[in-house]
Amino acid sequence: MFTANDFIPNSYSKTIENGSFQWSAPSNIALVKYWGKKTNQIPANPSVSFTLNHCKTITKLAFEKNRNSGNFSFDLLFEGKPKEDFKPKIQKFFERIESYLPFLKDYHFTIDTQNTFPHSSGIASSASGMSALAMNLMRLEKALNPEMTEEYFYQKASFLARLGSGSACRSVKGKVVVWGNQANIKGSSDEYGVEYPYRIHDNFKNYQDTILLVDKGEKQVSSTVGHDLMHNHPFAERRFAQAHENLDKLIAIFEKGNLEEFIQIVESEALTLHAMMMTSMPYFILMKPNTLEIINRIWKFRKDTQTPVCFTLDAGANVHVLYPENVKEKVLQFIKAELVGYCQNEQYICDDIGEGAIEY
Ligand code: DP6
Repeated sequence: MFTANDFIPNSYSKTIENGSFQWSAPSNIALVKYWGKKTNQIPANPSVSFTLNHCKTITKLAFEKNRNSGNFSFDLLFEGKPKEDFKPKIQKFFERIESYLPFLKDYHFTIDTQNTFPHSSGIASSASGMSALAMNLMRLEKALNPEMTEEYFYQKASFLARLGSGSACRSVKGKVVVWGNQANIKGSSDEYGVEYPYRIHDNFKNYQDTILLVDKGEKQVSSTVGHDLMHNHPFAERRFAQAHENLDKLIAIFEKGNLEEFIQIVESEALTLHAMMMTSMPYFILMKPNTLEIINRIWKFRKDTQTPVCFTLDAGANVHVLYPENVKEKVLQFIKAELVGYCQNEQYICDDIGEGAIEY
């Protein structure tokens, strides 16, 4: 296990003038939610997520030596075109990680990035985007220091991704990823995500996530502001304790494959996340009427057909419909017949569990 100090390099054995790397990194969907943070992107409570497979960001990082700069120097392209409004976030990210990657000011970077999911679909791209960038930067560090171990490479990549966006640290490696220190989960850390280390029942193999795009508009309240409102929140301490309890319960649920108990935790976590928003000061609601319609229809379908399908929500109105692979046909039929009408332009995305970031 590494700590932040281990991620400050002494010196590099190689020099590199220029080159490029390309990585993709997926989005992820939290089962136990991260909501609330301390300084330096340390989570107020641990979280666990399924890594997605198809929803991802693909980022090419080109670099060339930039001798007398003294500043960060980079161009940002999104889907092939310059994107100025993404630059402040990257600038801030570079500032945060500079002490861990001291070569950052030695290069001019061209960051060329695209998502596989539709632009402004309301799917957060910060997790996949920050993870893909962190992978490329680590790949450059590995080229400067080829002796680096694989364990160090991935843990530091997750550590850096976290400093870009908290949930990004769960988009690096592994199908099920835990972030945040949890006494009963070996190796878990507040500093980076780790692959869930215990047995996972076959019921969760190739678990499906169909994302219903209810509202593709810009969120009225950003996650960063939402996290911040957990300071002085009347229910914060109880909520943080509950996340630990739910994560502990999931250990036995993953092992035994009990889908009923799984559904209970996952839906409760989603509604609790939104309950925290509704009980913040100022309070806010990110669900839309169609979010509730979909939830009620999922509950009715589950009751009527005994199909183990459930929902979860991110910080937005979209609904993630989660279900095991063996009921895929039945659930997709239900989604097409009863739920797509509540999606904006009838749009939805079929995804499943994936492995993490990949180098191209
Ligand atoms: C509701 O990771 O987007 O999706 O760290 O400020 O970038 P920042 O926040 P972000 O928060 C995501 C919160 C969530 C729950 C989760 O993914 O655990």
